[in-house]
Amino acid sequence: MGQKFVKFIVYGCQMNVADSERMAGELAPLGYEGTEEQEEADLIIINTCCVRETAEDKIYGKIGELKQLKARNPKLVIGVTGCMAQKEGEKLRKRAPHVDFVLGTGQLKNLAATVEQIANRRRHSVVNTDMEQGTDSFRGKAVRQGKVSAWIPIMYGCDNFCTYCIVPYVRGRERSRTMEEILAEAREALAEGYREITLLGQNVNSYGQKPSSLAETGVSFAALLKQVDALPGIERVRFMTSHPKDLSLEVIEAIREGEHLCPHIHLPLQHGSDRILKAMNRGYTAEKYRNLASLIRERLPQVSLTTDLIVGFPGESDADFQATLDLVAEIGFDSAFTFLYSPRSGTPAAAMAAQVPEEVKKARLQALMAQQNKISLAINEKLVGSIREVLVEGASKNDATVWTGRTRHNKQVLWPHADEKPGDLISIKINKAQTWLLKGEIHGTYADDATILGG
Ligand code: SAH
Ligand code: SF4
Ligand code: F3S
Repeated sequence: MGQKFVKFIVYGCQMNVADSERMAGELAPLGYEGTEEQEEADLIIINTCCVRETAEDKIYGKIGELKQLKARNPKLVIGVTGCMAQKEGEKLRKRAPHVDFVLGTGQLKNLAATVEQIANRRRHSVVNTDMEQGTDSFRGKAVRQGKVSAWIPIMYGCDNFCTYCIVPYVRGRERSRTMEEILAEAREALAEGYREITLLGQNVNSYGQKPSSLAETGVSFAALLKQVDALPGIERVRFMTSHPKDLSLEVIEAIREGEHLCPHIHLPLQHGSDRILKAMNRGYTAEKYRNLASLIRERLPQVSLTTDLIVGFPGESDADFQATLDLVAEIGFDSAFTFLYSPRSGTPAAAMAAQVPEEVKKARLQALMAQQNKISLAINEKLVGSIREVLVEGASKNDATVWTGRTRHNKQVLWPHADEKPGDLISIKINKAQTWLLKGEIHGTYADDATILGG
């Protein structure tokens, strides 16, 4: 069999990170070990995203770059997987003939066989974007990339069909994994030393609500959260993403009562104008979102709320955009991911009249980001002087003496390293706030609950 190396280049959301770890698990029995260096790789897998055109452009650029590497090393196998592979299929092979295989989002189970056939020259090239539903539940062992936090998908696909979004087309119908399977994977991760579990899905609040071949229907997400919270050895439980139309009081209560459920909810608002929310098919109004945010804050006073926002959706007027600015300022999100609307062909919004001119979109994005940055900074500044429980991840990217970790609210913290190890829970005194992160110093090795203000 011999030693072989695989390099993953991953774009897009956490679901792609989780899928890549599963792919690494599928390839391990063939002798593939992970590498960071593309020069030493025998196999390069580009796991792709197509949520916005900028993502696709970047990925086509990266695929183009690999052509030279392949020319120098003809044995190199190059595969493209994930959402853009699903969307482009045959087109991708035509545009980049140096790619050996293209596998869509439903084809994870055929990865090992495909790689084996291509590496042994039994097949020249493969394009497979069949979307068999319900059969992509993973039974192997993920090769996880993080040291302390494990990503666990609880559901696949999306049935919401927001009019701007391509995800339902490239990820297929919503289907949930069984609770036993999820808990078994979580137990295994904890046994390996992981301390934090993040449950993943496009719309976690509808877990178990759709008939599917994988999970029993009628099991609630709150019930799953309670089970995960009770697993021996667990320190923190997170989840992503919540859809405002489906977030239940039961889930909010579960977080309040749970011992390890982190007080952070990522709740994409997308827009502040009812007219646009309707055109987006989001299923809620600004008022409904406002009430939900108030309810969350009332039940979970220490919660951090983060969101996603889109500017420049077709038909967005100055007044509509102002409604976004106003609602965002009123709610006061801890942070927000802000996106320029990107037309995705095949989605209803791409065919809508009144597309907003690019310069207008960009000016609005700048205004929204400037406003949000001020809010994020003001919220973070309030944390200066407090002591927070931080789960240690490891050295920061740019400086080995400065370490990084997260608070229970999911805020990134940097501090000068002493002798703490990845996975330790430590107390950090916050002494400086920035827009996207906090800086501090070690206050003690063990979190002292009495001094920690809600995490
Ligand atoms: N399922 C998650 C997020 C999926 S995509 C949810 O519904 O919250 C992540 C984010 O990308 C979305 O929340 C949205 O803000 C953004 N997005 C999706 N399609 C987009 C498009 N066509 N143009 C710009 N942003 C988009
Ligand atoms: Fe896309 Fe909407 Fe589904 Fe999120 S909920 S993945 S934005 S269709
Ligand atoms: Fe992108 Fe697919 Fe995630 S389109 S955002 S990688 S589900």
